[in-house]
Amino acid sequence: MKIAMIGTGYVGLVTGAGFSEFGHSVVCVDKDANKIAMLIDGIMPIFEPGLNSIVAANTKAGRLSFTADLNAAVPGADAIFIAVGTPSRRDDGHADLTDVLDTAAEIARALTGYTVIVTKSTVPVGTSRKIEEIIRSIRPELEFDVVSNPEFLREGSAIGDFRHPDRVVVGCDSERAREVLREIYRPHHHVTETPVIFTTRETSELIKYASNAFLATKITFINEMADICEKVGGDVKDVARGMGLDRRIGRDFLNAGPGYGGSCFPKDTLALLKTSQDVGAPSHIVETVVAINAARKIAMAKRIEADFGGVNGKTVAVLGLTFKPDTDDMRDAPSLVIVPYLQSRGARIQAYDPRGGKEAHERLNLDICKTAEEALSDADGVVILTEWKEFQAFDLTIMKRLLMRPLVVDLRNIYSPEQMAAAGFAYFSIGRPSR
Ligand code: UDX
Repeated sequence: MKIAMIGTGYVGLVTGAGFSEFGHSVVCVDKDANKIAMLIDGIMPIFEPGLNSIVAANTKAGRLSFTADLNAAVPGADAIFIAVGTPSRRDDGHADLTDVLDTAAEIARALTGYTVIVTKSTVPVGTSRKIEEIIRSIRPELEFDVVSNPEFLREGSAIGDFRHPDRVVVGCDSERAREVLREIYRPHHHVTETPVIFTTRETSELIKYASNAFLATKITFINEMADICEKVGGDVKDVARGMGLDRRIGRDFLNAGPGYGGSCFPKDTLALLKTSQDVGAPSHIVETVVAINAARKIAMAKRIEADFGGVNGKTVAVLGLTFKPDTDDMRDAPSLVIVPYLQSRGARIQAYDPRGGKEAHERLNLDICKTAEEALSDADGVVILTEWKEFQAFDLTIMKRLLMRPLVVDLRNIYSPEQMAAAGFAYFSIGRPSR
């Protein structure tokens, strides 16, 4: 199949490279010519484990190419995926569809024959239909179909998620388009036996939002259980394990922490909430989850302050700034709320992140340390904000020697309370008895 992927952001690049790895011929398009020039030179605009090598291998094999010219990529494509950004609109929280709809119009003008246009970006219910109307209004004479095919990739494990998804969802109202999508996902279906769900476009669009909102709810639920554990002397890790072994609940996404962040959950929960309100079926659960998660970040900041016995005039080491490990993404990271709060209370911050340093420096206006050791040096205590592996195995003797006071506030539960007590630390974690 010949595929054009419009948008070389996180989703577009991983999906485009992934399709080329399965043997399809893929052209990735982005209007940012600098980004395209970098990609042609083999430089990745984002950090994602494994991406570099599949881009290099498939570019070399001639199956993957990059261009800033949409008009060159569209003619002759069997399918054109729209994978451009849909940020939250500042004023009302709705997904901003400007780029998606502009791209659809641009594609319409460049089409030369029957093509399937696929929305990969997370778009509100009804958008695929809207895109169809736009293209039809520009090219009333042309045969085409618009299909919804949401992505479920996680940052940091996107390549593995692309190769072995739990499911592929396709929302499609035409048999002809269904055949094209079936062919595109044939390797997934045949080799890895991935279930491919065909449904209507509206249902497909909703599946994406419902999945993310449910996962956000699961996280928020366990975070509340952690708060209860702290009051009653329970251990949230055991609660999560005890719950998760029930297969109807499942073990994943029951790690208590400082609240969910990232490019998807905050934006998608808000967009689903707006949609639900607009259509007259307001989701009170999603509304509550959004509010609890926002409140949690500031509550965590206050908790750190309390665990430190006040931070005024103290040096706080912060390990991890990205919203989760194995990414350089800072979008909606809890650190963006927690660090400024601690600063406002008079703390001096010494922060380190293995990948997010550059963006964190810009977003937080903070000099970022080059190593974890530098961040820990002479600090009055350390806060773990992201569970990067290199912090998990950090030598506790060295940590204790570097810190001025042996105080650890661990918002990701990466250490065991017993081990920390034995190593002589005052240790505070989430939803577990403090030592
Ligand atoms: C998410 C979805 O998982 C993915 O399917 C969708 O396509 C995009 O959104 P991503 O944002 O990359 O992916 O990260 P994910 O691993 O889901 O984590 C999201 C947030 O939830 C992070 O801030 C993470 O720290 C938090 N989280 C996750 C928890 O606090 N506890 C958990 O148990 C799991």
